[in-house]
Amino acid sequence: MPQKYIKDISHRTNLIKTKSFSLAWFNFLFLFDFKIMQKEKEWFEHWFDTPFYHILYDYRNDDEARYFMGNLVDHLNLSKGDKILDLPCGKGRHALFLYEQGFKTTGADLSANSIEHAKQFEKQDLSFNIHDMRDPLKGSYDAIFNLFTSFGYFSQETTNIKVLENFKKGLLPGGHIVIDFLNLEKVIQQLIPEQHITKKGIDFVIRKRVSENFIIKEIEVNQDQEIHHYIEKVQALDLDKMKYFAKAAGLEIEETFGDYGLNPFDKDNSDRLILILK
Ligand SMILES: C[S@@+](CC[C@H](N)C(=O)[O-])C[C@H]1O[C@@H](n2cnc3c(N)ncnc32)[C@H](O)[C@@H]1O
Repeated sequence: MPQKYIKDISHRTNLIKTKSFSLAWFNFLFLFDFKIMQKEKEWFEHWFDTPFYHILYDYRNDDEARYFMGNLVDHLNLSKGDKILDLPCGKGRHALFLYEQGFKTTGADLSANSIEHAKQFEKQDLSFNIHDMRDPLKGSYDAIFNLFTSFGYFSQETTNIKVLENFKKGLLPGGHIVIDFLNLEKVIQQLIPEQHITKKGIDFVIRKRVSENFIIKEIEVNQDQEIHHYIEKVQALDLDKMKYFAKAAGLEIEETFGDYGLNPFDKDNSDRLILILK
């Protein structure tokens, strides 16, 4: 073959190679972008960060927090100056009271809006940070509180073990973990499939069901003719499941209570399932 043709062919092959490389690179970047675009926020990253969540649950207020925390710190025999972590703390209703009682208090939560709100209350022994409970804790504490159904949010049940392991590693010797969860039996017994509630001029339609081991609450918010949809999806966990997770994380359930007055837990009648672990 004449030298000219050989040169020409090799030039074309190189051109094709370069083009295929650019095409592959383009495809890679496109898919990468697409994946990022596709990664939707999890329900708990979304709903709790809205003002609507705080309006709908306004009855879970400071008075309830004070009553519960008063009973709990007495029961746990905590001393002034002890370090307490409230995770997740929401806007800090329990953390504020704990600080007022003389505890060195840290509140942490995934919701940037809630932490921004709570930060206005920061003082020397009261701080608030954004933190995901699936990640290791940043300090060590005499008590770690996980309050008002802030457990069982994740798609995999095994993530609960990871969360408990993080808590365990963050406990000082002799410390306690408190999980304040819903009472599954009572929630199922009293489940209202559809409710219409109006608060602060906003109409909420709440549809609840139990499906595939989750208690699912769909929340439709109608504000000024604009409709927003949110979801709450909490794992249907009972005491046996909690015992299993605790054991798997190397913890032991020391005590159980059924309400914020710390009355005994009774699966048919209690409002809450409150666990003290160590
Ligand atoms: C039902 S609220 C309870 C908040 C607070 N304990 C209270 O009683 O007001 C649940 C909280 O969990 C937070 N949360 C959800 N997923 C989280 C995660 N992976 N890590 C840390 N906080 C999370 C939400 O932002 C929300 O503030």
